[in-house]
Amino acid sequence: MAITHPRVWSIRGGGQHAPPKDNIDWESFGFGLNNVRTDKMWLDRVSTAGDGDSTHYSTDDSQCLVPLGDLQLSPTATVLNYGQALFEGLKACRRPDGSIAIFRPDKNAQRMAQGAERFCMPVVPERTFLHAVDAVVRENAAWVPPHGQGALYLRPLLMGTGEGLGVKPSSESTFCIYASPVGNYFKGGIQAIRLQAVQGFSRAAAGGSGAIKASGNYAPAFAVQRQVKQRGFDEVLCLDAASGEAVEEAGASNFFAIFPDNTIVTPSLQQETILPGVTRQSILELAAAELGLTPVERRLTLEELKQAKEAFCCGTGACISPVGSISVAQADGNVTDEIVFGSSAGPLTEKLFRMLTGIQTGSDATLSQKYRHW
Ligand code: PLP
Ligand code: COI
Repeated sequence: MAITHPRVWSIRGGGQHAPPKDNIDWESFGFGLNNVRTDKMWLDRVSTAGDGDSTHYSTDDSQCLVPLGDLQLSPTATVLNYGQALFEGLKACRRPDGSIAIFRPDKNAQRMAQGAERFCMPVVPERTFLHAVDAVVRENAAWVPPHGQGALYLRPLLMGTGEGLGVKPSSESTFCIYASPVGNYFKGGIQAIRLQAVQGFSRAAAGGSGAIKASGNYAPAFAVQRQVKQRGFDEVLCLDAASGEAVEEAGASNFFAIFPDNTIVTPSLQQETILPGVTRQSILELAAAELGLTPVERRLTLEELKQAKEAFCCGTGACISPVGSISVAQADGNVTDEIVFGSSAGPLTEKLFRMLTGIQTGSDATLSQKYRHW
């Protein structure tokens, strides 16, 4: 059956969305696997001639919906040897009436398609991607937490799984989606996070793969992430590779600052060093339409952040996280500067948080209706 609503997913064949499982302490869940295993995943392996040729991914539920389980891979698989891998992240939330809404899955389909082209894997057509997301949510509907108590996090993967030693695109592509219930990012009130930028560390350079949600973009930041956490900070703030003076993004989230002239500024995507976040795009739209702020996408330096009145990070996992302070350190940890915003969320950040989560969970009936096309 066709998907009839862009945001509130219809269950094929009609019927109600399964209610959440009983006897689960949803409130104890963090962002992780939470020691639970959902029921089904989507798994489709297709052979390709390499070079991003068109291949037919299946929409056959009876073939692709399989019990959540391990994948079998040759040690020579391209994904293991050359990192031909993309991932996505999106959430399904339980609305007050018990139905389930998925936040902007078409945007994830489009971003994965861009990555597939760059990584020479056959693109998963948007309709196929949406069909698979729908099926995984339906099959795991009892794992969508009760309204307001978290979300079912969906993790689509696309990777080259064919055998081969040569440095070239894989002869097989695997499209997989698994799911895990996750808790609310903030338990009881939003809290400000402390960031540290480390001179000499950058996540991506112009011409690289920073704008692609490539699996290989993440492990290179583990060491610096560990360092800043050991120093008591929550997350690393990535600076641009060219000058080390401009802010790019924070760990696995985009960065925003709000200035006294009511501009809301986020680093520009132009150099292709920053991930084009779905939350980022949503905030740009909401800030202008609902708060009358002027959205600006441009280079944003650490120096000018000293004039900003609020700052926050945002992403599917991170939601909207107010930034309390930014420490700037040399590689050895020697702190050279600190920008302080305060220990709680600024009023505009708080409003954006309420609006975004109100739309995602359906708790804001007016905004949910207005943004039903998302
Ligand atoms: N930046 C990076 C590097 C990320 O991994 C993510 C998370 O997906 C984001 C930004 C935020 O993107 P989105 O809002 O689509 O989750
Ligand atoms: C997300 O926010 O969905 C992400 O993918 C970020 C992170 C958990 C890697």
